[in-house]
Amino acid sequence: MAAETGVPVYVIGGYVRDLFLKRGSKDIDFVTVGDGILLAEKVASSFQGHHPVSVFRNFGTAMFHLDDLQLEFVGARRESYHPDSRKPDVSSGTLEDDQKRRDFTINALAISLNRDSYGELLDPFEGIEDLEKGIIRTPLDPDITFSDDPLRMMRAVRFAAQLGFTIHPETSRAISRNSGRIKIISGERISEELNKIILSEKPSVGFKLLDKAGLLEIIFPQFVALKGAATVDGKGHKDNFYHTLEVLDRIAPNTGNLWLRWAAVLHDIGKPPTRRFLPDQGWTFHGHEVKGARMVPQIFRQLRLPLNEKMKYVQKLVSLHLRPIGLTEEEVTDSAVRRLLFDAGDDIDDLMTLCEADITSKNKEKVQRFLANFAMVREKLREIEEKDRLRNWQPPVSGEVIMEAFGLNPGKEVGVIKTAIREAILDGKLENDFGKAYSFMLDEGKKMGLIPLKKEDS
Ligand code: CTP
Repeated sequence: MAAETGVPVYVIGGYVRDLFLKRGSKDIDFVTVGDGILLAEKVASSFQGHHPVSVFRNFGTAMFHLDDLQLEFVGARRESYHPDSRKPDVSSGTLEDDQKRRDFTINALAISLNRDSYGELLDPFEGIEDLEKGIIRTPLDPDITFSDDPLRMMRAVRFAAQLGFTIHPETSRAISRNSGRIKIISGERISEELNKIILSEKPSVGFKLLDKAGLLEIIFPQFVALKGAATVDGKGHKDNFYHTLEVLDRIAPNTGNLWLRWAAVLHDIGKPPTRRFLPDQGWTFHGHEVKGARMVPQIFRQLRLPLNEKMKYVQKLVSLHLRPIGLTEEEVTDSAVRRLLFDAGDDIDDLMTLCEADITSKNKEKVQRFLANFAMVREKLREIEEKDRLRNWQPPVSGEVIMEAFGLNPGKEVGVIKTAIREAILDGKLENDFGKAYSFMLDEGKKMGLIPLKKEDS
């Protein structure tokens, strides 16, 4: 199609990088020295079937889907900056002009798709060498590349974390120098990169780089507040920043669920504001799980993460994260296990995965003991779940039944009776059966001075 139109075309960017790294990629970017939108429309119509083209005229780009591939087209651009304006003049340019204005040398590689040079690699900034050496480096002076789009500072860290690359010292210094400029970037774009770091194989790498560059302090100060191991009167507490990163690395091989990984990030976030030193007890973080769960919505809002059931799930795991480990410290009673199953519901397995990752003591013997106890809790959970089916369980007598039995309107009394029934069942004092729960309800109501509408034997 390009040849027919008489314009050169190249495949460029992430697809070429991933080709050399042997990582599969479904997004293919094409750059043409001509009109990208026109070429996209021509290419789309050359395939059988209907392939609607989305056009982004402001950016001069267009894209369409072909099966599971996403094909994006852009005209090669050149940008020139005026010293008195941040907004660049964008005009059409050569392939090399376009490569120059990309973020990193490894993302500026292009391969010709033109007849006379098909398959030729165009690599003006030694991107292949950087790929081989594992280096993230900007094609131009990094101050220019980052001022063009400050999100690229996060992208540098993200690629370093994802690919196990190192950031070139000059590029790295420029990130530290320009970190404050990340403030002009939207929360959505920042969290997209942060999520990719969290989903990488060893997320601590990315977090440490963000911290070193001064970016973490700006985008997520609550996390930086976890830093510091304090000692008073010879009593110390661990550094919760490094502890949290260890938990995150430990959970990574066990889950690709972004939100479970977020729960690991946030499980101890309530520690700094609840930290106290009590002379008789040493350091305490009483209620940090409750405080932490309360902090989740603010953090999600700040990072433009979804304020929906995903957030509720993270909150729930943060608030319950001490429960399984608490169980191992006392005797594992049936009623405690039932309660945990009831409170965690379907998220019990994820909670256990989180808690297991949370065991990071340096004392090997202690870790072994905890893990052994954990195996026991898991076994007990399995047994009780099989017997009582408490996941997503609802007490057999509902609020409606209670209201009907005593002729009540919705109100406090209904709640009190409902709770009493639930607690009695969870404690193992009452069988999980409608008839038994119904008579228990009548007794509870009578204790409160309520009179059932129907005679008991009717
Ligand atoms: N790009 C850039 N600056 C940005 C974003 C993107 O220069 N802030 C360029 C890079 O050349 C990049 C290409 O646009 O390779 C495509 O960007 P994108 O699809 O966001 O990233 P990929 O490099 O494809 O990587 P991934 O798919 O892992 O996000």
